[in-house]
Amino acid sequence: MASWGAAFWSHAVIRTRFFDDYLLAATAGGIRQVVLLAAGLDTRAFRLAWPAGVHLYELDLPDVLAFKERVLTERSAAASCERTAIGLDLREDWAAPLRQAGLATGEATVWLAEGLLIYLSADEAARLLTEMSALSSPGSRVAFEVGSLGTDPMRAQAWQAPAMQQYVQLWKGGLPDATRWLAEHGWTPEVSERAAVATSYGRIQPEPSAGGFVVATRT
Ligand SMILES: C[S@@+](CC[C@H](N)C(=O)[O-])C[C@H]1O[C@@H](n2cnc3c(N)ncnc32)[C@H](O)[C@@H]1O
Repeated sequence: MASWGAAFWSHAVIRTRFFDDYLLAATAGGIRQVVLLAAGLDTRAFRLAWPAGVHLYELDLPDVLAFKERVLTERSAAASCERTAIGLDLREDWAAPLRQAGLATGEATVWLAEGLLIYLSADEAARLLTEMSALSSPGSRVAFEVGSLGTDPMRAQAWQAPAMQQYVQLWKGGLPDATRWLAEHGWTPEVSERAAVATSYGRIQPEPSAGGFVVATRT
């Protein structure tokens, strides 16, 4: 049996490419506002070739973004789009600071919530998606991961590993069925299975997986 670590590594590689393609396709299609919810140390603002006029907003906890800004400044990193980083807690009022920073709710937005929902409770995740929906005009898109990673025994083993404890303790589970939530709240979701995506990239997954990625369009 492959380790959960191997499955996670493979997942991270596939999801990075999948979400790169998702964001670039949305902006190539004309969307000019990109919001990374829980951007963390994401460097897409710097490493992707954005069309002219893209404004990318990064939202994450203040300490995380302060660390990131320090490193980026030390490296003299230059973004390839207009970039605004906003330190805040996504369990609180994040919509107002985002609008004040320039997000135009009359225009479509492409949202990415990569690696975030598991850190929120079901209620917190639903509130976040409700806020996000209220800011999204028709044609907006949102994407994040859905489903499980690796097999049940692999996950059970990983959950017990001492090295995993600092992460596991932060996980609150997210929304049990986020795809359905989207469908019931004015979005048209489409799920891509991770295994099929991996195959389309010429990669083989180390273990079967039940998960994938949802991309939804605001109707
Ligand atoms: C696994 S990382 C994902 C980072 C990035 N999206 C990626 O995929 O590389 C999870 C991120 O969620 C952020 N996060 C967790 N809870 C948060 C909250 N309540 N408000 C804002 N950010 C939060 C963390 O600071 C961290 O950067």
